[in-house]
Amino acid sequence: MAVDEELLESIVSVDVRRAVPDDLGSILEVEIGSYVHPWSGSLLGESLRSPNSLNFVAAHRHDRVVRGFILNTLVVDELHVLNIAVLPAYRRCGIAKNLLATSIGTARQLGAGAVFLEVRRSNITALTLYIRHDFRVIGVRRGYYADNGEDALVMKKVL
Ligand SMILES: CC(C)(COP(=O)(O)OP(=O)(O)OC[C@H]1O[C@@H](n2cnc3c(N)ncnc32)[C@H](O)[C@@H]1OP(=O)(O)O)[C@@H](O)C(=O)NCCC(=O)NCCS
Repeated sequence: MAVDEELLESIVSVDVRRAVPDDLGSILEVEIGSYVHPWSGSLLGESLRSPNSLNFVAAHRHDRVVRGFILNTLVVDELHVLNIAVLPAYRRCGIAKNLLATSIGTARQLGAGAVFLEVRRSNITALTLYIRHDFRVIGVRRGYYADNGEDALVMKKVL
């Protein structure tokens, strides 16, 4: 079977690095491409400037284009995953897995003992990703999402 060069390039040539305030434009682009109700630029900017944030982007090694991001906050010994998204054209190449693993590994080294996140009940793609990373559902916030009244599942991973 011939190697799919484009897919191979997407898998091996993406590096994860800490996000900086200058990444705001790229992160906003990924955000808009990923959600029906995206976060605003000012909310994303706030997260990028927050002193408790532990944010990462996945950028292509050669063109440096940001393909995905993860926004986290580290509160004492808990990591909270606030947002994770990957450009649609680059999904299913392991980018989210990489961003999540980097966040968890870094938080563990900084002394975190657990990771928490919320996810829409209907977001099977994200749920699969989290379950594969040993997150477990610990609660439900009924009608949490204002746009459609959907429940949020609260998930936790012990480090
Ligand atoms: C969720 C999201 C971040 C996953 O990004 P991704 O880079 O495609 O994910 P990965 O390639 O790292 O996949 C990791 C694992 O997630 C699961 N997964 C990813 N896409 C999936 C899909 N379409 N269907 C089922 N499982 C899926 C699989 O277990 C996969 O591992 P595998 O490929 O070894 O089976 C991406 O789909 C996205 O940006 N979605 C829109 C934003 C969003 O919903 N964010 C989550 C909010 S809580």
